[in-house]
Amino acid sequence: MTDRTVCTKTFPLNNGRSMPAVGLGTWQGGVGTKDAEALEASIIDALRSGYRLIDTAQSYGVEAVVGRAIRNSGVPRSEITVVTKFWANWHHDPAASLQVSLDALDIDYVDVFLMHWPFATTPAPEMRPLRKNESPTIVETWKLMEKLVGPRCRAIGVSNFTQKTLEEIMAEATVVPAVNQIELHAMNPNLKLVPYCQSKGIHVMGWSTMGGSGADNPILTHELFKGIAQKHGCSTGVVSLSWAVQRGVTVIPKSSSKARIEENIKLVTLDDEDMAKMNDAQNTVKRFRIADHITRLWMEMDGKPTLQGWTRVDFGWEDEQGNWLT
Ligand SMILES: NC(=O)c1ccc[n+]([C@@H]2O[C@H](COP(=O)([O-])OP(=O)(O)OC[C@H]3O[C@@H](n4cnc5c(N)ncnc54)[C@H](OP(=O)(O)O)[C@@H]3O)[C@@H](O)[C@H]2O)c1
Repeated sequence: MTDRTVCTKTFPLNNGRSMPAVGLGTWQGGVGTKDAEALEASIIDALRSGYRLIDTAQSYGVEAVVGRAIRNSGVPRSEITVVTKFWANWHHDPAASLQVSLDALDIDYVDVFLMHWPFATTPAPEMRPLRKNESPTIVETWKLMEKLVGPRCRAIGVSNFTQKTLEEIMAEATVVPAVNQIELHAMNPNLKLVPYCQSKGIHVMGWSTMGGSGADNPILTHELFKGIAQKHGCSTGVVSLSWAVQRGVTVIPKSSSKARIEENIKLVTLDDEDMAKMNDAQNTVKRFRIADHITRLWMEMDGKPTLQGWTRVDFGWEDEQGNWLT
């Protein structure tokens, strides 16, 4: 490995603040007491090794751990960007949901509060998936979110939105989303959506940029990426993160290993040839949408496969013929 330095790059947000190029993800399935202790230790390791961005969500069940780690890290809260997200069952009342996050995190404010997915459900305990045009729609929820911007919520944004769903809310919005957090890796590079967001002043964060934790993960194992990694003396994981950051995207790799946490924030500079190969890997290796395989969220509705009531066309991922639009 070559000697690389910690990435301190930041990107501007449309609220006048900025966001680090590399942060730590905190999704890890369930959390027992042991896992919570390990997660707290890994967040503290990350903050002490230079990370200044933590990505979490209500649905990860770890906000309390994230808040505790921030307090115990010794790094001032003012230096850390905290992103959290509210789940579908809160679309009718994001203000109440913000309070849930602030209480769980036990911090005074969140830096960015995201609508986790465009789909909504009825409130808990029922949590019945709603169709795209049923109330609360994304526009109704976004209008409620706009009222949250202030000292306890510095910016609002969305996650898993496309040009189609962004246009739907922007037609009515007075606040442009600061962030759109999307699945982004070389099998699903979003070559159209990223520049679209950037043209609107919406900063893109990528999730599962190393391909996530599934067993068959070409991002870490395919010869194409191994070749680029070898050339730069780094791991395939770092190749993927570097490629995304060079496209102006913030990455939030998750790792439970101290060594990999330290490695993931030390990026390399890819040349034009590497970037072109990465951008084209959806054609030369394969095209793959991780969201298609989150089996617990897929269900049939009105005779069609839906992710919690939304079809791929509703999301704006594909047209009626199945062509990818992102
Ligand atoms: N907005 C959304 O809907 C959404 C959806 C999914 C995820 N997210 C966010 O995005 C974050 C990242 O996504 P993710 O956790 O799904 O996937 P990821 O960060 O792409 O990959 C995590 C996996 O890669 C392994 N890993 C970490 N560093 C590595 C390296 N240098 N080399 C090889 N393997 C490495 C980890 O294992 P070890 O732990 O053993 O290192 C873990 O299994 C999440 O934690 C979450 O905060 C958001």
